[in-house]
Amino acid sequence: MREDRRGFLAGLLAALFGIPGVAALLGGRGTRGRWIDAGPLDALPDGEPRRFAYEVAAGWEKRQRACFLVRKGDSVFALDATCTHAGCMVRPAARDDAGGAPGAFLCPCHGGAFSIDGEPVRRPVTRPLARLETRVTGGRVEVRA
Ligand code: FES
Repeated sequence: MREDRRGFLAGLLAALFGIPGVAALLGGRGTRGRWIDAGPLDALPDGEPRRFAYEVAAGWEKRQRACFLVRKGDSVFALDATCTHAGCMVRPAARDDAGGAPGAFLCPCHGGAFSIDGEPVRRPVTRPLARLETRVTGGRVEVRA
């Protein structure tokens, strides 16, 4: 709640004074990210990525983003679905795609592939998928976006 007020104040000041840096200085939404509920941890199958779509503020607009939640036991991590080669959206690969790594991610644009941990396994990709901060609170997964 306190963060919501701070974000609102930052947005209001930025709108009134036209100073984009005001929002950043006050730590408003979109500059530091916010925690987004991604559902119960128990709903995620172990080792099988699940796509999670969400919106982020980009100035006065909202942008659609997506990541993949990967559960490993009681922990979970989130990989940004944006390919690090040229920005296409990756998808979970079929079992024998992506160099034989089950559950890996395949990029439809140029055939690049990533392991289940987001590491590049097939060119042209050379950099890993970006990781988003995650936490589990009261059995629910939250993603900072
Ligand atoms: S954009 Fe993904 S391999 Fe080129």
